[in-house]
Amino acid sequence: MSAGDYLSVSDLTVKYGGLLAVNKFCMTVEQGEIVSLIGPNGAGKTTVLNLLTGFARPSGGKINFQGNDITGTPPARIAANGIRRTFQQNSLMFDLTVAENVRAGLHTRVKSGFFASLFYSAAFGEEHRAIRIGVDRVLDAIGMQAQRDIVARNLPFGDQRKLGIGIAIAGQPSLLLLDEPAAGLNPDESAQLTALIRRLRQDGITIVLVEHDMRVVMGVSDRIVVLSRGEKLAEGTGAEISTNKEVLRAYLGDGSWTMPAAIN
Ligand SMILES: Nc1ncnc2c1ncn2[C@@H]1O[C@H](COP(=O)(O)OP(=O)(O)OP(=O)(O)O)[C@@H](O)[C@H]1O
Ligand SMILES: [Mg+2]
Repeated sequence: MSAGDYLSVSDLTVKYGGLLAVNKFCMTVEQGEIVSLIGPNGAGKTTVLNLLTGFARPSGGKINFQGNDITGTPPARIAANGIRRTFQQNSLMFDLTVAENVRAGLHTRVKSGFFASLFYSAAFGEEHRAIRIGVDRVLDAIGMQAQRDIVARNLPFGDQRKLGIGIAIAGQPSLLLLDEPAAGLNPDESAQLTALIRRLRQDGITIVLVEHDMRVVMGVSDRIVVLSRGEKLAEGTGAEISTNKEVLRAYLGDGSWTMPAAIN
């Protein structure tokens, strides 16, 4: 595939009232890459993920995914096309168990209908087997087999974040968008998350990561795109970004974020 054939975003723009939340934003992602999207609070990172998944409609620009123009396509259709996301705020079904949450993530892949579920048909039995296998596959991937029967609200915060990723990968996405998966994690949990993100890529999932934790970002990214006030400020490798004067100025000026000494 040549540059931009997998995911390409051009001149993406969205206005909220007088605010240009995202302004003429361009980005390409190659299949198999991990690209991080970083920037100060309010830079427009979540809005870009909302645009990519149909949760927000752009006022201008185009999104191309695997050869199709998906600009303005509704969320369910985009998900069915192989793009899944996690949310900045945990969006679990807190009263259900870990396995039940994962099963809900599989739901859109279930085919046999209402009548098949009333009359235990061969197709229905087959489907149940497929669901069991699907749930096991996800629990293995996120390393949560041992917690499968725990109610989500009783999980430690780090495991709730992991389960959010599990729900997103249940649909076997081609492209996974993660919105600050390390927020609120302790160093041990964020090291585990870094390993999980690497494993997902090895399993063939392409990843766009929105994250403030630079240890995670530097630990997984092939490329980093920096957003500031809705516009692309810089793009490059971790080494390039961590020494880019404009990037450092944007962050220091904002005060919400500082480049950790470890990568300077
Ligand atoms: N639905 C909306 N209606 C109005 N304004 C919005 C909406 N969504 C986002 N914004 C505004 O757009 C700007 C970008 O917000 P966004 O949530 O994309 O930032 P972010 O980079 O994800 O920030 P953070 O790091 O704090 O999560 C902010 O000024 C925000 O208030
Ligand atoms: Mg955000």
